[in-house]
Amino acid sequence: MQQLHPDVERILADEKQIDEITTRLAKTITKDYQNSGRDLVFVVILKGSIFFATDLIRKVPLDCNIEFMKVSSYGAGTTTSGFIQVHVDLKRDVKDADVILVEDIIDSGRTLEKLSHLLANRGAHSVKCCTLLDKPERRQVPLKADYTGMEIPDEFVVGYGLDYNERYRNLPYVGILKRSVYASE
Ligand code: IMP
Ligand code: MG
Repeated sequence: MQQLHPDVERILADEKQIDEITTRLAKTITKDYQNSGRDLVFVVILKGSIFFATDLIRKVPLDCNIEFMKVSSYGAGTTTSGFIQVHVDLKRDVKDADVILVEDIIDSGRTLEKLSHLLANRGAHSVKCCTLLDKPERRQVPLKADYTGMEIPDEFVVGYGLDYNERYRNLPYVGILKRSVYASE
């Protein structure tokens, strides 16, 4: 058993719980898409969902494509819609495909809301959202994931792909970051 990182307050999901989550979500996704007759494309949102995506998608025994996107989401400011900036885009057309967006965590909901619209506008037959973690208390737009691993309280979490200033992504668990780490910066 790995030692708890000194900057982590407590663990929210350990390796065993994460394994159970990815097994459960993969089973549901497999059941939902096994008879679709359409192309299935997992769109992995970089960088936070890399470990989640690799564990999840390996448990889905269906023909599929894996694509990556990297985006940053901006708040609406004085306008109502806001926008996203795409830094890494898909390498294939998603027209008529079933798309599953794979995200590490939903906070305000803006990233997935905008990305869903973007891919729907590109002609995807369907766009669903699969997230490892969800902080429902923080939602600013009415977005609900289709597949959720775990709901968590309004705390800043790191590990298993999630970062704070690009650190802690390689922790094998998801844990709450001590407030003293970001309060001192
Ligand atoms: P939103 O749902 O558009 O507000 O943004 C979700 C994104 O914010 C995620 O993909 C993460 O990159 C980041 N994020 C939100 N909460 C956390 C957290 O607790 N730890 C690490 N990253 C987070
Ligand atoms: Mg992210």
